Amino acid sequence: MNLIPRPSKVEFLPGVFTLTREAVFVVPFGMSGFHTSVEFLAVKLRAATGFPWPVREGSTGPIVITEDGPTDLGQEGYLLEVTPAQIKIRTRGTRGAFYGLQTLRQLLPAAIEGGEKAPAGAWTVPCVRIEDRPRFAWRGFMLDCARHYQPLDLVKRTIEAMAALKLNRFHWHLTEDQGWRLEIKRWPKLTSVGSWRTPAGGARYGGFYTHADVKEIVAFAAARSIEVVPEIELPGHCVAALAAYPELSCTGGPFQVQTEWGIHKDVYCAGNDKVVEFLEGVLSEVVELFPSAYIHLGADEVPKDRWKACPKCQARIKSEKLKDEHELQSWFVHRMIRFLTGKSRRAICWDEILEGGPPQSVIVQAWRANEKAVSKAAAAGRDVIHSPYSHVYLNEPPTWMDLKHVHSWEPTEEGEHTALTPAVLPDPARLLGGEACLWTEGCPPERVALQAFPRLLAVADNLWSPAAGKDFAEFQARTVSYRDRLARMGITAGPDRIEEPPKRGATA
Ligand code: ACM
Ligand code: ZN
Repeated sequence: MNLIPRPSKVEFLPGVFTLTREAVFVVPFGMSGFHTSVEFLAVKLRAATGFPWPVREGSTGPIVITEDGPTDLGQEGYLLEVTPAQIKIRTRGTRGAFYGLQTLRQLLPAAIEGGEKAPAGAWTVPCVRIEDRPRFAWRGFMLDCARHYQPLDLVKRTIEAMAALKLNRFHWHLTEDQGWRLEIKRWPKLTSVGSWRTPAGGARYGGFYTHADVKEIVAFAAARSIEVVPEIELPGHCVAALAAYPELSCTGGPFQVQTEWGIHKDVYCAGNDKVVEFLEGVLSEVVELFPSAYIHLGADEVPKDRWKACPKCQARIKSEKLKDEHELQSWFVHRMIRFLTGKSRRAICWDEILEGGPPQSVIVQAWRANEKAVSKAAAAGRDVIHSPYSHVYLNEPPTWMDLKHVHSWEPTEEGEHTALTPAVLPDPARLLGGEACLWTEGCPPERVALQAFPRLLAVADNLWSPAAGKDFAEFQARTVSYRDRLARMGITAGPDRIEEPPKRGATA
């Protein structure tokens, strides 16, 4: 049994449950969320087995989902009992039902994922008793769709694979120096100009997501218990927006959508009220499009060069009685966070936000592994999402950041395995969980699956499974057959590890 992520408790029982043409799902009366979760698996079963798989309301039957799960398993936990006579999932909530069914999905032959059919008679489920609940509430994956535009079907495939791994937050990085990828009706040049770049001697490159595309992705993810968290970067990483509307900069431009990677000095002018008005317009459309309780505002890597030389920015520093450009950044980001708060959304910012005493409500995404960002955020009483570049930046090559290295990540440690003790993290619930990030400077669509997988399997195990019992060899053994499932989902995983080429001149 190669379940990923590893459940909290598994008890093997003798025998199997055999799927037959008469199989039927039974869900509680009037629970449309349970119905949606079951239908998700029923669709796959109909295609794979050729059986009808009706879904009925009731409380008894051969495959039954009930809402009387143990309360200590929470809203995402479930109890799955398979005997030769019955499959039963007991849970408290829609998400628990969905995750119980994901485990059942992994207990079925890989043919459930499509591709070659299972041989006749192979449609059995091993008898087990599984008690399961997630270790962390926030189990995310960030895909940078700005450095390279990632096609809609790739985004969906990624979300589908996340769902099977019980990951629950898709962080959609949508704006960058090198491209603006989200249609904003109020500001049409963001996409007509900002979504396209032309490298020297190269062809025009780009793309963007329409409102219809976004609605499709949000609904696709929601049907899989995944919340889509959009990221609109400010006040830096915005040259593509400045190329469209140069009047939002300190210098007036002109600008080209960037074709070089790295950190760029041109950022939104923090002294210009038009910039605030522009971004509030953008965020108004964003909150209409995305039902997520969370909106990511970036706020990382903001050079202060332009602000130092800009009369408007300097006037703002004076009028708001700020000390310097660092306080100007805090003022600016806080202004945008307040706008989101007014729309009943919580802002997430990268850990640079800690430099300016962030508002209580902000969630800090800690990425700078060498800066003790988790400790600092926890000490400041802020909620944290842990994303150390040292362990979960999946753009790094699987040489030093191989599968074993990612699996060795312990979300409650920072730096070189320093435990976040109760003194540092008095309320462990402040650590919401973690998120792997895939930045795509070197990662066009055809490389995304190779970079993300199999390492995302290790991330899922680290965020869902209990810390006790963690063992790399045991985990790696589970990934072997999981590769076949991924392939059937249209995902070609990369190698577990790539050996570094020997250094020139080194002797063998
Ligand atoms: C980041 O890697 N700049 C969040
Ligand atoms: Zn300025």
